[in-house]
Amino acid sequence: MKIGIEKIGFYTPHIYVDMEKLAEARGVEPAKFTIGIGQSQMAVAPITQDSVTLAANAALSIIDDEDREKIDFVIFGSESGIDHSKSGAVYVHRLVGLNPHARAVEVKQACYGATAGIQMAKGHVALNPESKVLVLGSDIARYGLDTPGESTQGAGAVAMIISANPRIMELESHNVYLTNDIMDFWRPIYSDKAFVDGKFSNEQYILFFNKVWEVYKEKSGLELSDMEAICYHLPYTKMGLKALRTVLEEAPEVDRERLLENYQVSTLYNRNVGNIYTGSLYLSLLSLLENKDDLKEGARIGMFSYGSGAVGELFSGVLQPNFREHLNIEGHNKLFDTRKEVSIEEYEQIFNETLPEDGADIELDIDKDPAPIVLSGVVDNKRQYVNKRS
Ligand code: HMG
Repeated sequence: MKIGIEKIGFYTPHIYVDMEKLAEARGVEPAKFTIGIGQSQMAVAPITQDSVTLAANAALSIIDDEDREKIDFVIFGSESGIDHSKSGAVYVHRLVGLNPHARAVEVKQACYGATAGIQMAKGHVALNPESKVLVLGSDIARYGLDTPGESTQGAGAVAMIISANPRIMELESHNVYLTNDIMDFWRPIYSDKAFVDGKFSNEQYILFFNKVWEVYKEKSGLELSDMEAICYHLPYTKMGLKALRTVLEEAPEVDRERLLENYQVSTLYNRNVGNIYTGSLYLSLLSLLENKDDLKEGARIGMFSYGSGAVGELFSGVLQPNFREHLNIEGHNKLFDTRKEVSIEEYEQIFNETLPEDGADIELDIDKDPAPIVLSGVVDNKRQYVNKRS
């Protein structure tokens, strides 16, 4: 039985910051952000968007009534969840109108959460071939204003349906995973901003990639030349390139050129959104699929997932016949084209505008946010979500 990605969708907030302007405001050479880090724009989450609304908006963009009936498992990968007890999946389940006979859980391991979700979904579908699983990767990356991590923030969500009808990409089974207890990036429960040892995190990312790649080759018998492209978790677009470069020498010139060219295509969306943590690898896949016109069915795509702390996984997938017909290229182009730039002052104001921490009620102005699903306020310590379409 083939199992894999049947549908994939994406959502990012309607506002962004220009990275050259952010660099100027921070007294940094713009090329450091646009070339050294490799980011052009950074999505900014208004107070009316959180990890639940981002995920629900991404899900809404892909599901139809048949999915609503058949989805019996919702897996919400996030490291910026909104509750220590209740899962984001339960809110999304209601907001997009799914069949009540579904499981709904949240999975956490930094940026690795959605990958764990996909692999759990694969197991579920293997046991229940009629099922569909909704896997969500949704986050707002926050390091703080004028911190070294600031240029690697972002916000957005990816939603995928995993089923035995993988119209886009079949998942192969030569997965290799690795866990090591390290402190490269973490977020204590009392903090809404991440703590990070930046240089160490970069080194560990590359080390994890090298280790899983070596074992993947042994386990699968495959080499770089068997890969049409390798998509990476992209905290910033230069990061995956650094990892790719460490193995490129293994391949003949023709394969090196292809992998480098496809790497650039796989970073186009991420370059204009920033780090979306759990969804980042899948945004990179989407970027490749929607922007590379000559990808063919049967092409194998390597996927490197890294979640600080840390867990890494390398797996691969094979593109299916007519996969392009099941993408939403027009919708995603529109999402990008209708975004609005905010000034650095506006971004700073939005960054500092947070929900009350003392349990006070708040009503938010949802008219400024064009998203279908928004956070409209907090009443009695309960977040209030609205689907403007229902
Ligand atoms: P930094 O200290 O601001 O930057 O931190 P830098 O001094 O290392 O410079 C960055 C790059 O810009 C360097 O390139 C410079 O040479 C270059 P590199 O040598 O690395 O190739 N540069 C220039 N290039 C062109 N023109 C110029 C110029 N000036 C400098 N004028 C850092 C950068 C990424 C460490 C920081 O932003 C940070 O801490 N970010 C957060 C952590 C992070 O993203 N880590 C990535 C790996 S861990 C991961 O992916 C997991 C994560 O997503 C979380 C999770 O799993 O949950 C983060």
